[in-house]
Amino acid sequence: MFTAAKLIETAQEAPHGGLLDRLQRHLLRLPTVPVAAHTQAAFEALQRELGPSPGALIFDSGCGTGESTRNLAERHPEAWVVGVDKSADRLGRLRAALPANVRLVRAELGDFWRCAVAAGWRLNAHYLPYPNPWPKARHYKRRWPAHPAFPWLLGLGGDLEVRSNWRLYLEEWHIVLESLGVASTLSPIAPALEAPLSPFEAKYLASGHGCYALRAELGSGGIPAPSWSAYQARCEAPEAFSRPALMALLAALPAETSQRSALEAALTLPSLRKPEGHRGAAASDFFPCDLAPGEWEALRETLEQVLEQRAEGGDDPALTLALRALRSR
Ligand SMILES: C[S@@+](CC[C@H](N)C(=O)[O-])C[C@H]1O[C@@H](n2cnc3c(N)ncnc32)[C@H](O)[C@@H]1O
Repeated sequence: MFTAAKLIETAQEAPHGGLLDRLQRHLLRLPTVPVAAHTQAAFEALQRELGPSPGALIFDSGCGTGESTRNLAERHPEAWVVGVDKSADRLGRLRAALPANVRLVRAELGDFWRCAVAAGWRLNAHYLPYPNPWPKARHYKRRWPAHPAFPWLLGLGGDLEVRSNWRLYLEEWHIVLESLGVASTLSPIAPALEAPLSPFEAKYLASGHGCYALRAELGSGGIPAPSWSAYQARCEAPEAFSRPALMALLAALPAETSQRSALEAALTLPSLRKPEGHRGAAASDFFPCDLAPGEWEALRETLEQVLEQRAEGGDDPALTLALRALRSR
């Protein structure tokens, strides 16, 4: 028996106000947490099969049972069409034989995109049919445009197509892409003109929902640089130190200073990514440091004591800058 799909329930009436800030935050600092081992292994297995330059390549991200992957593969016999989903259960449901140009992979999408970008893969097309939209406003950070993995999706390039039965979700994609200078169109799916691409689309259309497609050309990919304003704001934030200030701090602080390890850890992570046209070298690198509120105060007190004892030893401009940053907290 057919069970009608529920309409999206949400109290959110407009695109979320935090989206662009999240996007810039992620462009300033790409994820550094290691890729999940199972996704790395799944990507490497696919890479061995498709070879170092797989040629025409299409991703069906969040492919569910893989029916959309099959539909796309039939439309694009010239390309490899790779369906990716984290659910072994869904991936295991498709019984019909798949075209020879389909591969289905069980993996975590964000990590999978990251592996593909790192391997230099670029897509001809990227489909995301009915990704989980996380309709509660407080969950907006889980939506792809606000997700830390979004830069990798951009990095893959290609003709992007995202489908959803929640128009507002696609408007959020539109706003985020527009902020990067990427135009997109948003149009209703016309069931009279095309067969459903995927099971979720079929279910939503049969339940009378409006379904929409957002389309954008991401071109040859590459991860965009952050904006100047986001970069400046982040460098001026009290928890960010320039490389010289951080190194001077580490050199000056007594060995037993408890905040040392957090400062050392900050230096081992990549510095903030710089905006387009930034000419600075390593000396202008900035590193956000992760300390609890009370720790900042303790660090400032330690540094003040160090500087007091050094009063006759002359000023170190990098340390003075570090102290100024600590006092501004
Ligand atoms: C709403 S279903 C849509 C399935 C299919 N695209 C369709 O339209 O019929 C969303 C799918 O995305 C998958 N998914 C969600 N988040 C994922 C993630 N982070 N990594 C991999 N798959 C994910 C889920 O397992 C699920 O199969």
